[in-house]
Amino acid sequence: MKRVLIVTGGGDCPGLNAVIRAIVKRASQEKGWEVMGSIEAFNGILREPTEIMILDEKAVSGIHYQGGTIIQTTNKGGPFAWPVKQHDGTWITVDRSEEMIRKIEILGIEAVINIGGDGSQRISNVLSQQGLNIIGVPKTIDNDLSATDSTFGFQPAVQIATEAVDKLVTTAASHNRVFILEVMGRNAGWIALNAAVAGGAEICLIPEIPFDINKVLDKVNSRFVKDRGFVNIIVAEGAYPVGGHTTGTPSDSIGYKHLRLGGVAYKLMEDLKNAGCEHEMRATVLGHLQRGGVPIAYDRVLATQFGVKAFEMVLAKEYGRMVSYQHPYITSVTLEEAVQQPNLVTPDTALMKTARGVGICFGD
Ligand code: F6P
Repeated sequence: MKRVLIVTGGGDCPGLNAVIRAIVKRASQEKGWEVMGSIEAFNGILREPTEIMILDEKAVSGIHYQGGTIIQTTNKGGPFAWPVKQHDGTWITVDRSEEMIRKIEILGIEAVINIGGDGSQRISNVLSQQGLNIIGVPKTIDNDLSATDSTFGFQPAVQIATEAVDKLVTTAASHNRVFILEVMGRNAGWIALNAAVAGGAEICLIPEIPFDINKVLDKVNSRFVKDRGFVNIIVAEGAYPVGGHTTGTPSDSIGYKHLRLGGVAYKLMEDLKNAGCEHEMRATVLGHLQRGGVPIAYDRVLATQFGVKAFEMVLAKEYGRMVSYQHPYITSVTLEEAVQQPNLVTPDTALMKTARGVGICFGD
């Protein structure tokens, strides 16, 4: 019996289960393969006793339309930063990657398929260099992976953000208020930019363009005539003012490397007030609603394509690579290429030009 192990890592998003199902269904067409899932990213392999589950056709039946991941995930710790509590109560992190690779060999696992975003594929890349037979499948709601034309999870996030703008517009107009909607995306402004165009927001602030608060205020004021008017601002969680910094809180979770972004909408409200904004303002932080719920048809289709391709790469022993959608093909790139540079909004981005073309202000 040949074994393949599936891992889902990083933040969850709609479509992960559709990838898992597609891998299992494709594997079931070949003789002698068993698919397993490591519970909570690589933690399932690292824990004692090991936490892995058999993924047969029964286990994955009907999961293509379920959000989240049936094998769970984490965006903390991992094989290179395993948290260990010291006698004095403090925590350190240790590298358990070599031990994990040995454990995978002992379990008779031929190959690992790691479904995850930027951070997860960095882990895949190093494990591949250490000799593990690993294949990456891209996943991100932030759209920040440059080696694939798109990923599942991004479109539903944009849809949810757009629906939020639609709802805020009516209350903003009724009350002559400035509404600020904070959306996710980490260091990329894709969710904000797309939702601003789709939702008709007047101002969009993204991490790629530090904003000038006075320019934002000018745009706000231009939308009011004698106190009558309204404005919808979309601010990406990673956006920051010229000379300033991102808003967030250091995480108290062991092994969580990033600043936990959040709160820029409230900070912006305060900054606008300090800059002289006299209009009434309200802030909404959309948060994890952007990652929850069922995958849309687009995600299910792309995720299924990714899953089938990933297993076929296992059959062809195309290790050290990540599945990639390069229209119209589902192909692959090396893991090295996959993590080389993030996909960020640039001045040349076609949608940026469109957004400026319809008068959206970026605070620059
Ligand atoms: O990368 C996906 C993402 O949802 C980001 O947009 C966001 O900053 C982060 O994950 C939130 O992570 P957590 O679930 O740890 O709060």
